[in-house]
Amino acid sequence: MAPRKIIIDTDPGQDDAFALLFALGAPHELEVLGVTTVGGNVPLARTTRNALQLTELAGRADLPVFAGCPRPMLKRLQTAEYVHGESGIDGCTLPAPSRPARDEHAVNWMVRTIMDAPEGEITVCTLGPMTNLGMAMVMEPRIIPRLREVVLMGGGYFQGGNATPAAEFNIWVDPQAASVVFDSGAPVTMASIDCTWTAMMTPAWVRSLGALKSASAEALIGMAEFYMSYGSHKFDTPDRPIHDACVPGYLLVPEAFAFRQCSVVIETRSPETEGMTVVDWWHSTGRARNCKVLGKVDAPRFFDRMYRAFATLP
Ligand code: BDR
Ligand code: CA
Repeated sequence: MAPRKIIIDTDPGQDDAFALLFALGAPHELEVLGVTTVGGNVPLARTTRNALQLTELAGRADLPVFAGCPRPMLKRLQTAEYVHGESGIDGCTLPAPSRPARDEHAVNWMVRTIMDAPEGEITVCTLGPMTNLGMAMVMEPRIIPRLREVVLMGGGYFQGGNATPAAEFNIWVDPQAASVVFDSGAPVTMASIDCTWTAMMTPAWVRSLGALKSASAEALIGMAEFYMSYGSHKFDTPDRPIHDACVPGYLLVPEAFAFRQCSVVIETRSPETEGMTVVDWWHSTGRARNCKVLGKVDAPRFFDRMYRAFATLP
């Protein structure tokens, strides 16, 4: 089978870095057409530089990187240096990128690429605030029926949120963009924090990457150590959810994820619950079930697949 064509929209972020390298380490199953960046964990200039460095770390200096929206549609950008450090990928030191981002805006490239591809071919994976994809759908709604699937990390159902009591960070940063996407009619699959909290990365698994003896493994270990140092007020173990990696994880081992098809609406108006993913778990509204809500992941299978992907990288 031909590899599945995906666009990765991201705000690296150490867990974005894990996701990116996971996808790039599975070229027989996933063909990454390009990487688009958005302001999120850190400002856009940083996420773009990080994406350039990380693709080079994976030996993919050929992969185009496009800078997208520097801020959400309506809100001011809220960043998360308190989790990811000043650079967004603290914990590793990578060489300066050898190439710049492409000249074209990420949203224009996304629209052009989806319009030029056969219908139902392209999957867009969002690992940060959904500003670029929401903007693309507003600019050119004809991309919507052409998408195969949108797979995102964001939201929550039983857990509520991690940025506020009700909202997960990616959705909370740009609820309007998320609302455009969830409301679009495109098939949406959501790896929420309820799912990602079952993808707990352990210090022992991180240490096991050392056996790969590669530059990418060394950088991943450094990033993991930094990333896992945050959150002792939330977790009673040293293990941490490797959120964004659940997106390529789902694409590569879908059978490892429990799921439920539900109606999901994004709250955009209430100050207390802004950015909440309102999941109709019991189908009480009777609204169309627009979202595949991912649940518990089979962690050993997931981490084994990720390890094997990393083992292919330089
Ligand atoms: C999400 O927020 C970011 O901090 C992570 O990169 C991930 O995409 C988790 O809520
Ligand atoms: Ca992210």
